[in-house]
Amino acid sequence: SSLLILNGPNLNMLGVRQPEIYGSLRLEDIKASCNAHAEKLGISCEFEQSNDEGTLVTRIQEARGVHDAIILNAGAYTHTSIALMDAIIAAEVPTIELHLSNIHAREEFRHRSYIARVAVGQICGFGAKGYLLAIDAAAGLSGKA
Ligand code: DQA
Repeated sequence: SSLLILNGPNLNMLGVRQPEIYGSLRLEDIKASCNAHAEKLGISCEFEQSNDEGTLVTRIQEARGVHDAIILNAGAYTHTSIALMDAIIAAEVPTIELHLSNIHAREEFRHRSYIARVAVGQICGFGAKGYLLAIDAAAGLSGKA
């Protein structure tokens, strides 16, 4: 069972960027705890970040037939990107939408998610812990936990 964890724009700034909203862990810390958690469940996982919408589209396309699930924190592209939504449809890989913050409790413009329309489900508001919850959810999809 193989998992792709994909992080979008500005998530490379975690730990420095608005820690009161996004927490004090760096993306590298989150990557390490994801790897440890996935290993415990017997899942192999790739963890990536890009600030570039096209790169994210390409990575989602490449997941087709390769990964069993995608965990996607698309950052602000969540609220704007029809291209990411179409990539998820085209890839036909079950995708779990993830956000550190509770986007529904924040500004109006964060309430709309193009990812939600095509995702299996959404996890948001649990900070870095959400990544581990999303891995559990992905494991459940493939009958692995
Ligand atoms: C985010 C929420 C988005 O609205 C925001 O643009 C981000 C991070 C989150 O993880 O809470 O960059 O995806």
